[in-house]
Amino acid sequence: MVAIPGPSILPDAVRTALARPMPDIYDGALVDLAFGVLGRLPAIARTSGNAFVVASNGHGAWQMAISNTIARGDKVLALESGRFAVFWGAAAGLAGAEVEILPGDFHSPVDPDALEARLRADSGKSIKAILVSHVDTSSSVHNDIPALRAAIDAADHPALLMVDCIASLGCDRYEMDDWGVDLTVGASQKGMMCPPGLGFVWAGERAVAAMDPDRPRSSYLDWEKRLDPQMFYEIFSGTPPVAHLHALEAALDLIDDEGGLEAVWARHRVHADAVRAAVEAWHATDGLSLNIASPRHRSNAVTTVQTGEIDAVELRRRCAEQTGLTLGIGMVTMPDRTFRIGHMGWHNPPMILGVLATIEAALHSMGAPMASSGVAAATAVIGEALDEGAKPDQTGSEGNR
Ligand SMILES: Cc1ncc(COP(=O)(O)O)c(C=O)c1O
Repeated sequence: MVAIPGPSILPDAVRTALARPMPDIYDGALVDLAFGVLGRLPAIARTSGNAFVVASNGHGAWQMAISNTIARGDKVLALESGRFAVFWGAAAGLAGAEVEILPGDFHSPVDPDALEARLRADSGKSIKAILVSHVDTSSSVHNDIPALRAAIDAADHPALLMVDCIASLGCDRYEMDDWGVDLTVGASQKGMMCPPGLGFVWAGERAVAAMDPDRPRSSYLDWEKRLDPQMFYEIFSGTPPVAHLHALEAALDLIDDEGGLEAVWARHRVHADAVRAAVEAWHATDGLSLNIASPRHRSNAVTTVQTGEIDAVELRRRCAEQTGLTLGIGMVTMPDRTFRIGHMGWHNPPMILGVLATIEAALHSMGAPMASSGVAAATAVIGEALDEGAKPDQTGSEGNR
């Protein structure tokens, strides 16, 4: 079983959808399916803006966002809280932007006061766009996007707020329009329960207005023809990613069947709480601890665990080779002293408790310091949620492989 922060486990319905035969790509059922899926996507980011789909991973979605909004020489501010906004900034730099990093660390969210101060210092209002991860998958920080929006407004700054939701989409609450976000990027392989291969960009009015048709940009990623297609062909800049569209339709149906995004977010919260309770119960001197200090800034999609004196590489190796559980590698400052637990997308209590029990067994085998049973603590969290009437099992029989 994989418990890495993406790609996540594929539900049976998604795997079955992937196996459907190839249709005509210019007419008939696929055209209806594509328009149907495109029409359902804005609700996933909670926006009335445009949704664009690109056949790529998340890097391709970053690229689509940059290509359509940022010109060579534009200034971009990337907000550090882990690795990913900085990587996105680097992609903008390669495309010719002048990129500045607002420094942060790997254990806390972006500081809204620091953002406000930096924007106030930009008296010429030359910063064109601000790049931030909603959830940074390396640190597992959950950034407070409304607080960052408030900081931008307090500085009376016109920069576009561009948010990477690749890790958080379908896991942590996200309200693009209510939070005043101009552009959101996502990808298929985490909370959206599909294989890697689809990137999503949601663009609000200000982001669309930033597109300059007279500027050289990528023909494949271009929004202009996708916004006003003369032929179906133009919506995907060529052959549509047919199998992925089938899979995405199945995944959107699963979200609806569960009761919609609110129910999906609630399930993620309970399971993330269970994981966090386990790590806190295990915590002992020189042992495991949560990477993010502030409880309200911990993601419900992924948990980064610091391992103190425990060898995280050996812990992962024992889990993978002796039990079949694959945990996420450490991506923060000391990769051999951190690992990550992905709890994004398709999971139920047996899967989450199985992951935690396996980690506890591996820790036990290593003689690692543990204050108490993490499994007991996690079980109590899930038990309380069951008392409250949450659905315990959203998965099919094969979901927990
Ligand atoms: C927050 C975040 N942004 C961007 C990416 C890059 O996505 P991809 O690997 O699909 O290109 C990832 C990948 O894990 C991510 O977690």
